[in-house]
Amino acid sequence: MSIAVTGATGQLGGLVVEDLLRRGVAPDHIIATGRDTDRLTDLAERGVQVRRADFADSGTLTEAFKGARKVLLVSTTDVGERLGNHTRAIDAARDCGAELIVYTSTLNARTAGMLLADAHLKTEHHLRDSGVPFVVLRNGWYLENYTSQVPLFLQTGVVPGSAGAGRVSAASRRDYAEAAAAVLTSEGHAGSVYELGGDDAFTLTELAAALSRASGQKVVYTDLPAAEYRRALLDAGLPAELAEVLADSDLGLKRGDLFTDSADLRRLTGRPTTSLTDALTEALTGALAS
Ligand SMILES: NC(=O)c1ccc[n+]([C@@H]2O[C@H](COP(=O)([O-])OP(=O)(O)OC[C@H]3O[C@@H](n4cnc5c(N)ncnc54)[C@H](OP(=O)(O)O)[C@@H]3O)[C@@H](O)[C@H]2O)c1
Repeated sequence: MSIAVTGATGQLGGLVVEDLLRRGVAPDHIIATGRDTDRLTDLAERGVQVRRADFADSGTLTEAFKGARKVLLVSTTDVGERLGNHTRAIDAARDCGAELIVYTSTLNARTAGMLLADAHLKTEHHLRDSGVPFVVLRNGWYLENYTSQVPLFLQTGVVPGSAGAGRVSAASRRDYAEAAAAVLTSEGHAGSVYELGGDDAFTLTELAAALSRASGQKVVYTDLPAAEYRRALLDAGLPAELAEVLADSDLGLKRGDLFTDSADLRRLTGRPTTSLTDALTEALTGALAS
């Protein structure tokens, strides 16, 4: 019986598959799925089962999950389509006889007022109602949401946002991926809802200060009204839906929706989470190399 991972063509799902292999799961006991399986050729060459799964098409999901004892559902990208996508995937996993469904939700999904949280919470409810044993991984913000913008922050000298003095418990994709792989390869997690976030929460002012220290260049946090921040994101070329969601998420950050003092993430991985300083240093090294 195998472990199926959705979103394996993406960053988080890809890291989970790598971590399952690192933990000694036999490649042919892993089913890596995505819409464009050409992007999974490397895994196929290493003996991983590669199957096409499109969350918009239930038939592909049922084919993909055949024989999977455990299914990791990585939430899909398009916010408006998430609930329908996730509902179809949970139903398909149940119909295929999965004994455990692990779902990547969002931090504090039950109480967070962010636009993003709605589909995640409704997915969690559908998962509970499915009757299949489940684990919810309420993943916090990715450090990469910030480190991917390091070149822009350095170019402008500004970290823009609407988060005020809110603190974010961010961790790296690798941290979250390792937690997912740990849950998939050990017993005793069924029914658990894990609140996953970084050990050391920071404000965006602290992010700017940490980047200034690491780069030797002055960078300051500039707090904007949400409408202005949304406009700045649109001007930077982001699609309207994403700009809306990001500005709204910063308001959530300000309220504490993206903060946790839970140690679930470090408990699952067995090590401290990636620090902001280490993530920034890695990003700066990458920026210098490119
Ligand atoms: N915690 C955070 O800070 C944060 C930030 C951004 C996103 N997220 C959420 O976390 C998820 C994983 O993050 P990530 O960094 O790995 O994102 P990513 O690199 O964009 O990967 C998203 C994955 O979802 C798959 N996907 C999207 N729509 C699909 C569909 N209709 N059917 C099948 N597969 C579909 C993509 O497959 P294709 O290659 O076929 O498109 C891809 O493999 C995201 O999808 C999003 O829900 C969290």
